[in-house]
Amino acid sequence: MSDAVVASRKPFYKELKAGRSYLWCACGRSRRQPFCDGRSHEGTAFEPVQYDCKTDGEEVLFCGCKQSATAPFCDGAHSNLPGGYADEAVHDLPWAESDAAGIRALDGHCYVIEAAATQTDRACAWWCRTVVSREMGAQHMAQFYAELASGESPILASSAGDVVLWIMAGQGTVEISGLTFGITRNLGIYVRAGEAFRFTQQGKERLVAYISACPATDALTEFDAMPANFDVQWPDRTVGVDESQRHDMGPRYFQMLVDKSIGSITATQFVGHIPLSKAEIHRHLYEEALIILSGEGVIWNDSKRARVHPGDVIFFPRKHRHSLQCVDPDGMDVVGLIHPGDNPGINY
Ligand code: FES
Ligand code: FES
Repeated sequence: MSDAVVASRKPFYKELKAGRSYLWCACGRSRRQPFCDGRSHEGTAFEPVQYDCKTDGEEVLFCGCKQSATAPFCDGAHSNLPGGYADEAVHDLPWAESDAAGIRALDGHCYVIEAAATQTDRACAWWCRTVVSREMGAQHMAQFYAELASGESPILASSAGDVVLWIMAGQGTVEISGLTFGITRNLGIYVRAGEAFRFTQQGKERLVAYISACPATDALTEFDAMPANFDVQWPDRTVGVDESQRHDMGPRYFQMLVDKSIGSITATQFVGHIPLSKAEIHRHLYEEALIILSGEGVIWNDSKRARVHPGDVIFFPRKHRHSLQCVDPDGMDVVGLIHPGDNPGINY
């Protein structure tokens, strides 16, 4: 048996037609990539893989490197090919400057927002601002930044669907529809659609949380009383950082936090590390909100660049060409939320 040929180091983006069948080339030898040409696999152990499209306009990324474990589609394995996640040269582009709301806007609704920039009332016990919304250019997700100096937060929910939380600082508890979990910094939390949640702050440090809602909602709903509708079919709701769960992505790595393994089907949260580097410019089919946990960096698109610091959120629209450069010798740690999508390793 011969090895598959790497036809392309990137996947092929295609919009499909309902009712049509597509024969993906598994051997890598076809002259009409990413599809089988009917003959070039002869003499190899490979056969084409058929995909039947049921939804008109379905957007897919057919694997070009032929190394994917989720053939015929890309699973990000191309990033681990030798030279597959190449560094790109740094060149001059205008810097995006912060406005009064702490937003550094690139073009195409891509921006960096300093989440705590407008928090001027340090005496305020509960403070929450929107950092990603439809009004700001998102289509699929919303994100809110919250600080709780003491006591309890309001009882909150998203009327649109699931909620994914990230605890950035502090400690205390989160009550989810009647069940209480201890929380501390660097923790991902999943709240299922229809459930509500409430933070309680403990200790000296204020609790800092990023609250993501998928699909998008314009505002979180406040309840007068906590509903007792915790979904016991999915009892595990908190996921911490665990080095043994890392996946390599070229010189980078990531660990899944909130994902389908605990019931979140279309929204996925991960924690990742980016070494001193500038990745090739690329795109994703999902929307992404990336929180910078540590390290300094620069976000690039085709016309602008902006500096990013710990606490900032970068919002990437779908299909937006970008590159995140780490300029910190110690690297950058980030937490991302992607929606809709379940694999942050896929790029094209
Ligand atoms: Fe093959 Fe992405 S192109 S895994
Ligand atoms: Fe590659 Fe047919 S030509 S599978």
